[in-house]
Amino acid sequence: MKFFVDTADIDAIRELHELGMVDGVTTNPSLIAKSGRDIKEVTKEICDMVSGPVSSETVALDSETMIAEGRELAKIADNIVIKVPLTWDGLKACKVLTGEGRMVNVTLCFSANQAILAAKAGATFVSPFIGRLDDLNLDGMDLIADIREIYDNYDFETQILAASIRSANHMSEAAKIGADVATAPPDVIKKMVAHPLTDKGLEGFLKDWAKTGQKIL
Ligand code: E4P
Repeated sequence: MKFFVDTADIDAIRELHELGMVDGVTTNPSLIAKSGRDIKEVTKEICDMVSGPVSSETVALDSETMIAEGRELAKIADNIVIKVPLTWDGLKACKVLTGEGRMVNVTLCFSANQAILAAKAGATFVSPFIGRLDDLNLDGMDLIADIREIYDNYDFETQILAASIRSANHMSEAAKIGADVATAPPDVIKKMVAHPLTDKGLEGFLKDWAKTGQKIL
């Protein structure tokens, strides 16, 4: 499973990138607003650092403007993925933009039917939102499993990009189901390392080591 980082925070991306943890980046209008930066400026900086796909989202509601915005965003760098919403206009924009050879991420996917339409429209990625479904007492992970099954049934090439990830557990669950990609905030990726038995084990080893009076360096 590929790891995308869901943020427009340059320093946070850099820290994970130096560890080889960043296969790509996803942003959205809320994340750009949170960064307080100009969308083109910050996205260019991300693309200069990360060679994998970097999603940048359109904000128009009609397909014509969405396509124009997508073309404009695609000028930022070759690794830009144009993100469009899973609406009828978004699907139209997806069809046109992928037809031009551009990568498209169809976002805000909340049902298997929506994911089928995204694949039919030629999406490079579809982004089912796990956390926001969980917030409604639904199981976001069930949606990932349904889409995996359907895409495998018909050899759809659209990659499942598990999004709205809120916990380290979401990461391993998405990987078990076979999501192609998971995009998570940096703090969630960092939490994946945590285990109390690791901390306890390390504490025990260091205590015993101190008794030896030895040094490695
Ligand atoms: C995905 O591309 C979105 O940017 C993101 O995962 C949304 O997550 P949220 O539901 O935590 O805002």
